[in-house]
Amino acid sequence: MTHDALRDTKFLLVNGVGEMPAVGFGTLFDKDPTVTKQAVKDALEVGFRHFDCAERYGNEEKVGVAIQEVLKAGNVRREDLFITTKLWNTNHRPERVAPAFEASRRRLQMDYIDCYIVHTPFAFLPGEDPNPRDEQGQVIYDSGVTLIETWRALERLVDEGRCKSIGLSDVTLKIVQEIVAAARIKPAVVQVESHPYLPEWELLEFCHQHGIILLAFAPLGHGVEPKLLEDPVITGIAERLEKTPAQVALAWSIQRGAAFLTTSATRSHIQENFEISTLPPWAMREINEDVTTRKRLNTVVETGVPGFIH
Ligand SMILES: NC(=O)c1ccc[n+]([C@@H]2O[C@H](COP(=O)([O-])OP(=O)(O)OC[C@H]3O[C@@H](n4cnc5c(N)ncnc54)[C@H](OP(=O)(O)O)[C@@H]3O)[C@@H](O)[C@H]2O)c1
Repeated sequence: MTHDALRDTKFLLVNGVGEMPAVGFGTLFDKDPTVTKQAVKDALEVGFRHFDCAERYGNEEKVGVAIQEVLKAGNVRREDLFITTKLWNTNHRPERVAPAFEASRRRLQMDYIDCYIVHTPFAFLPGEDPNPRDEQGQVIYDSGVTLIETWRALERLVDEGRCKSIGLSDVTLKIVQEIVAAARIKPAVVQVESHPYLPEWELLEFCHQHGIILLAFAPLGHGVEPKLLEDPVITGIAERLEKTPAQVALAWSIQRGAAFLTTSATRSHIQENFEISTLPPWAMREINEDVTTRKRLNTVVETGVPGFIH
């Protein structure tokens, strides 16, 4: 497999400190949590340096152990890594933010977090149950806290030097605009679903204008229907360029200015997803103009209920 410098792309954190490797590895392993440790070690070995975590994924300890083992072996330094983790919906009350952050940081065995992200803009009933439901099975939301109040508590974490930047996730353009207008420390990162079937051009443009990094999740379409990696435009480009469809979709993301998070439990896929190279202008144009399917795969942005965690 061939690659070029595209995989080494780093985006500057205009609203934070340092740079984010555009190629990121996600740690949501819903179906089999036992794979986390091996997958993270494989990803580090292959060359991934950016890892996306979350309290809600229930596996921060395993990510932490995997990273520590690799750090101790001496081939990778902490300062080469970019680690994000996320505040869950049940911890939006300002007094719950620092304890939730500290718990994640300890589980990950990190001295600091590169970017702490509000997982969704929806506050759920505060408490230990991550999925609070009433007797009818409906989510119990918390109307006693606003997103900007939660955001101010994240700003304090930056003031205290506990994390280098803060971000939002599963937000609409309108919510990003509201937080950008009201925030003292602007979001450094906005993590949303994005791929050729959901390009989010308007959000991407707003992010670029405000120095925010758009971090795309499900860049390969999460392996579900309609299968992005079987789209004839993507497979046609892949054939002509002797790349895989995954490599085409991932290169497209970086070249249009969006970092991405891909996830795999399969070593060969992890390797393949890191061995990416620059697409010629005609291929970018074909993806932008000829892919006509439009599909959001994860409804978390509408409810705060994670669509890929079962
Ligand atoms: N903020 C949020 O609410 C939110 C929501 C969802 C996800 N995320 C983050 O984004 C990360 C990535 O999301 P995602 O899992 O949807 O990403 P994705 O990379 O689009 O989809 C992963 C799926 O694609 C398959 N795959 C990976 N590489 C492949 C390849 N080269 N060829 C063919 N299939 C391949 C994987 O299967 P194999 O294991 O078999 O390779 C897996 O089923 C998550 O881990 C998480 O960190 C955040």
